[in-house]
Amino acid sequence: MKISVCGKGGSGKSTVVALMTRAAQKKGYSVLVVDSDESNSGLFRTLGFEAPPVPLMELLGGKASVKKRMGSPSLFEKSAITVEDITHPHIQRQGGRMLISIGKILHSLEGCACPMGVVSREFLKKLRLGKKEIAFVDMEAGVEHFGRGIDEGIDQVLLVVEPSFESVMIAERIKDLANGLKKGAVAVLNKAPSENVAQRLKHELKKKGIVLIGIIPNDPDIFDASLTGSPLQKGEAISAAENIFDRLIVQSA
Ligand SMILES: Nc1ncnc2c1ncn2[C@@H]1O[C@H](COP(=O)(O)OP(=O)(O)O)[C@@H](O)[C@H]1O
Ligand SMILES: [Mg+2]
Repeated sequence: MKISVCGKGGSGKSTVVALMTRAAQKKGYSVLVVDSDESNSGLFRTLGFEAPPVPLMELLGGKASVKKRMGSPSLFEKSAITVEDITHPHIQRQGGRMLISIGKILHSLEGCACPMGVVSREFLKKLRLGKKEIAFVDMEAGVEHFGRGIDEGIDQVLLVVEPSFESVMIAERIKDLANGLKKGAVAVLNKAPSENVAQRLKHELKKKGIVLIGIIPNDPDIFDASLTGSPLQKGEAISAAENIFDRLIVQSA
């Protein structure tokens, strides 16, 4: 199963990816995290890796080379890709936890992110997972990935909503775009500061036809881990995420 984690910038997509990874591993899944956010580089730390993987963009010859071949039928030689096909240094592994990255924008004036979108789209479409394997795709913020067709290859969208009007609006837009591709979209409310706010948001999401599968509290342990650039080891959010993962699996079946 391939799940894309989407939402407003800063809503907690990467945090939710890390929490879902942990929860899925606890349930016996191997997890492939696909870093498809071309702007932020810290996901490897949140997941407890010492270094980031070398992006797939480099495996394919770099951005300029991909750009030249963007119209060609296939960037990857194989018609189906498994996690075994991606080898060091393009994948980081630690037991059943794996991380790959599509590509990052590192220099000013290096051009647009279109080649990243093409690599993400093709990779996700061709990726084949086993029964006890699950992929979480840490998406770029907002909705542009839908325009680039990156979500075509995924099975389910997980919306991350933080307590703000803007975040709910973006979630609604993403849900509509996902449904347009015949993909289901369910939401988690993240950074909930109180039960009262959680209930208000729950009501708002229901009005917009968005199914809420769980609530992650505003957790000082997440704040702390993020301050020091270390993986999350403890806190309320971890147990909340385990329940959310169970519901996500049911929704995606
Ligand atoms: N439930 C939470 N409680 C406290 N802080 C959180 C929570 N979720 C995310 N954060 C913090 O919010 C910031 C943005 O989260 P991040 O996962 O990087 O968002 P995104 O990937 O959507 O940009 C980070 O500093 C992160 O530590
Ligand atoms: Mg992020």
